[in-house]
Amino acid sequence: MISQALNDRLTLTGPGTPAGRVMRHYWMPAALSDELLGARPVVPVTLLGERLVLFRDEAGELGLIDRHCPHRGADLAYGRLEDCGLRCPFHGWHFDRTGQCVEQPGEPEGSRMHERIRATAYPVTEHAGVIWAYMGDGAPPPLPDLDCFRAPGTHVFAFKGLWECNWLQALEVGIDPAHASFLHRFLQDEDPADGYGKQFRDGVEGAAEIPMTKLLRDHPRPEIMVDDTPYGLSLTALRHLPDGRTHVRVTNQVFPCAIVIPMSREMTITQWHVPVDDSRCYWFSLFTSFRAPVDKVRMREQRLAEHHLPSYRPKKNRTNDYGYDPEEQGRETYTGMGLDINVHDQWAVEGMGAIQDRTKEHLASTDKGIVANRRALRAAMDAVEAGEAPPPSHGPGIAGPISLDTIAPAGADWAEAARQADRARRAACPWDATVPA
Ligand code: FES
Ligand SMILES: [Fe+2]
Repeated sequence: MISQALNDRLTLTGPGTPAGRVMRHYWMPAALSDELLGARPVVPVTLLGERLVLFRDEAGELGLIDRHCPHRGADLAYGRLEDCGLRCPFHGWHFDRTGQCVEQPGEPEGSRMHERIRATAYPVTEHAGVIWAYMGDGAPPPLPDLDCFRAPGTHVFAFKGLWECNWLQALEVGIDPAHASFLHRFLQDEDPADGYGKQFRDGVEGAAEIPMTKLLRDHPRPEIMVDDTPYGLSLTALRHLPDGRTHVRVTNQVFPCAIVIPMSREMTITQWHVPVDDSRCYWFSLFTSFRAPVDKVRMREQRLAEHHLPSYRPKKNRTNDYGYDPEEQGRETYTGMGLDINVHDQWAVEGMGAIQDRTKEHLASTDKGIVANRRALRAAMDAVEAGEAPPPSHGPGIAGPISLDTIAPAGADWAEAARQADRARRAACPWDATVPA
């Protein structure tokens, strides 16, 4: 357990907060590209507690500016998208995508007051189906060379979902390798052929006879190792099979708020848990295929069936008990909340409360990733307060990372088995997935 003061320090990300200052050193996912496809490409975006509006002007350029008009605070999410910018409907002030006020049509002819008016604006870039915002000072860093950014657009599918809780508890479920054997336990196994686009429904390379659901169910006490890396943490969970083989599952945390995890034999998920404000967060997932192009239509349909738009709030949520069915809980799933594992995770993190009261927690041996991450976040906050850049920093050279399930033969070095499996997958990948040695 930790003090309330430390819990606040780790979880609050509004302007000027220690963790918020750290977050503002990294690109954050602001919206899906899909959200700007309509006839009027303007969407309100709340990010790190700041109310903003994202728009694409007639030239196709993106802008992300303060949602409140610098004149008297009207809501620019209802602005008129015209003349290569957004015009406030209250008195007609017009802003370009840099936030500069370029016209005040109600002011006297020849007035130059607009030259001194500038709305807060942040750099944005569009990549892999997501629009990214950089909310820090100075020039933004390059995006890291993660697989999801290196893969061609045909091989990456992006989606998002709203969780009504603080970002840190959402991240902390992602760096907890033990929970998959319980929270996501399926009491019966399905045909892996039905598992496309669904996590934990595939088989494992090298042990096709063992459904992933059975493997997780039968081995609830993985040996967990956590290693510091240039990008964050690498987490390895070993499940020792009775015949001497070892199931190796490698997942990662990419500092400060993303994870990279295997989804199936052909896909990984890179998932950001980005704060909307202190009591809500979005997961943004980039599904990256190392084999065939992703079937975006099918994956989008699967997920749209589970979410309300435009909020992307899951249809199963606390207002309908997450679909909880005690009969199903006895027969089919550990939670009784259906087969979508996102709902399981959502229940786990939302049920903790808007911000988990960590003064009452009791971390155990399986929580070593959580401990390591909090330590890294504290070090980054200390660095920023000392005027330094927070480690780890992103940029070229942050490649991969290894993220997979594999089976190490009896007596084999499991770490080498994981590296070999990663090399083999990258060598067979239709796009250039090689990483520097
Ligand atoms: S409040 Fe926007 S122009 Fe007046
Ligand atoms: Fe999970």
